[in-house]
Amino acid sequence: MTAAYEYETHVYDVVVVGAGGAGLRATLGMAEQGLRTACVTKVFPTRSHTVAAQGGIAASLSNMGPDHWQWHMYDTVKGSDWLGDTDAMEYLARSAPAAVYELEHYGVPFSRTEEGKIYQRPFGGHTTEFGEGPPVQRTCAAADRTGHAILHTLYGQSVKNNAEFYIEYFAIDLIMSEDGQCQGVVCWKLDDGTMHVFNAKMVVLATGGYGRAYFSATSAHTCTGDGGGMVARAGLPLQDMEFVQFHPTAMACGIDPAPLATEALRGEGAVLVNRDGNRFMLDAHPDAELAPRDIVARAVYAQTQAGLAPALDTRTALGAKILTDFPAVAAACQQAGLDPVTQVIPVAAAAHYHMGGVATDADGASTLPGLWACGEVASTGLHGANRLASNGLLEALVYLSLIHI
Ligand code: FUM
Repeated sequence: MTAAYEYETHVYDVVVVGAGGAGLRATLGMAEQGLRTACVTKVFPTRSHTVAAQGGIAASLSNMGPDHWQWHMYDTVKGSDWLGDTDAMEYLARSAPAAVYELEHYGVPFSRTEEGKIYQRPFGGHTTEFGEGPPVQRTCAAADRTGHAILHTLYGQSVKNNAEFYIEYFAIDLIMSEDGQCQGVVCWKLDDGTMHVFNAKMVVLATGGYGRAYFSATSAHTCTGDGGGMVARAGLPLQDMEFVQFHPTAMACGIDPAPLATEALRGEGAVLVNRDGNRFMLDAHPDAELAPRDIVARAVYAQTQAGLAPALDTRTALGAKILTDFPAVAAACQQAGLDPVTQVIPVAAAAHYHMGGVATDADGASTLPGLWACGEVASTGLHGANRLASNGLLEALVYLSLIHI
């Protein structure tokens, strides 16, 4: 048979599509096992959307007070609106401490306590004693550049382990055999327009979400649902697509994508106020600014709709420390012409994360032989209807790093 167009063929054991946190962790996991691993990505790995992840990684390290993986699991179950898959949640919460220490050993420069332990900060919905105890500081971070630090570290480790990167290659479609097996992926090389076929025993989609379907999103322009599109075209259904998370404190300053004013700011005591100076979360939930994310997002949205101009006030809680402890937020404020030391930060709810996607089991395997998925494109059922804050980076780390083929 003659092909309709010229293409170059590449053969690997594994081809990973996407080089954000999940894609790089999968790439590294495969390469470390000695598998011939290719990672195809439409942007340079350290520019993937994970670079915008500020807050951190939830893990019950107990560095800031008593904690337990079962309490983390409970918070994940509750945060999901009781709609999550409990096997996936147990795996996530149990695996979290080891995943964080592993990253530390790979070289992620976590923020530290005075004793030199990994610093953990408070985030909404994280409690102790199965919701009966006080909030816990569980989220491990590298200042407000946690995603940035993870990408640099995992990319370096992947290269060291001989993973091969195909940068600025746009994955177009899965290659399917006549008996319904995924055998590879077709890519378009962006700088010269040539076509490339990557054949592999294992195709891993780590293409992220589809935030760009929304007018207002924290998602990078690259988040266009490419993986979900390829899977749908191959005839596989996507699950839980109605479960979309909105971040309550995207900066409403005319920048697209909307920069995050990370929830960690609220963890450190920043408050939400409106144009009248009313701290509206006090009436909305007993945990006020640290209520679960969907509740804060709804309250912020209602304020915006009422024309009350919701804003985050970091001045008393952080003062000038915002400039050093939250450099990414400070830089976004500067870009917007705001001084967060003396001014409030206007905020709005914006599309942030998609709980649904390619249905996978706890090993990341889809129902299509030869196809796996991990990170935001996947839907293990882990997050149910609502992802618990700082479980997203964690999810990217714990699935698909150790699969053997
Ligand atoms: O606010 C944040 O830093 C977001 C964290 C997350 O989505 O997990």
